[in-house]
Amino acid sequence: MNRSSSIEIIDITNKPEYEHLLVGCIFHRKKEIQLQELINGNPERVRYLESVIPKGLHTKILFWKGDYVGMIEYGSPEAAGLPISGENIIIMNCIWIHRKAQGQSFGKMLIDDMIRSEEQACGFATLALEDYWMIWIQKWMIEHLGFRSIDSIKLKHKTYKKGQCFKVHLMWRSISDNVTPPTWDKRQLLYGINYCHHHPLYWGKYGCAKSGLTEIHEKC
Ligand SMILES: CC(C)(COP(=O)(O)OP(=O)(O)OC[C@H]1O[C@@H](n2cnc3c(N)ncnc32)[C@H](O)[C@@H]1OP(=O)(O)O)[C@@H](O)C(=O)NCCC(=O)NCCS
Repeated sequence: MNRSSSIEIIDITNKPEYEHLLVGCIFHRKKEIQLQELINGNPERVRYLESVIPKGLHTKILFWKGDYVGMIEYGSPEAAGLPISGENIIIMNCIWIHRKAQGQSFGKMLIDDMIRSEEQACGFATLALEDYWMIWIQKWMIEHLGFRSIDSIKLKHKTYKKGQCFKVHLMWRSISDNVTPPTWDKRQLLYGINYCHHHPLYWGKYGCAKSGLTEIHEKC
């Protein structure tokens, strides 16, 4: 089997047979979990998917030799889960290549696939973190995938690692010159995001849901 024939990128968004990969996160699973359990455990994610799939959200999985090793999720500003706006732009919620498969151009393949699929888009935006203590989409990683920071804000969690500041960057990759860059609602970031409960900025993380906080971050 040559390398390209062993790689397949599948849009799982409207494919019931992949619903467990759509609701649960593909890499945070030490054991197989039943779909119903995933649905019960991720009500925010389920609500998010129900509202944005009709608006054109795409979740794609990269299979390598039959095993899922990478994912990307993106959509228009109306469908994506990040507070970024702009005309004719696409927002990337997430990209992830499993550690065992990193460094083999799979990340670039998913980005190229997104750009090819969204040929009307004049640019692509996402968020990245800097000085964050856990692995997530770090600024330097996204820079390697062709994005650059166009703005940033310094935040801290209200209930976790109090006093430790980190930066959130608005990352942008424009397709051509003379494109108006996106804007973002920094205030909205204080409420966190709700499309993925593994995301470091997830609203329900670190006891915020239990303590009834609405704004879970503050400026640093
Ligand atoms: C960012 C990420 C998607 C890149 O995927 P990848 O398949 O490893 O990257 P590629 O092989 O396509 O390489 C892309 C570029 O990044 C560089 N790169 C990748 N890993 C690197 C590393 N550890 N150190 C330095 N450079 C690296 C490559 O050299 C390449 O750059 P170049 O074109 O200038 O040579 C991947 O590292 C990742 O998933 N990181 C974790 C992201 C995460 O936490 N997501 C959120 C989950 S909730």
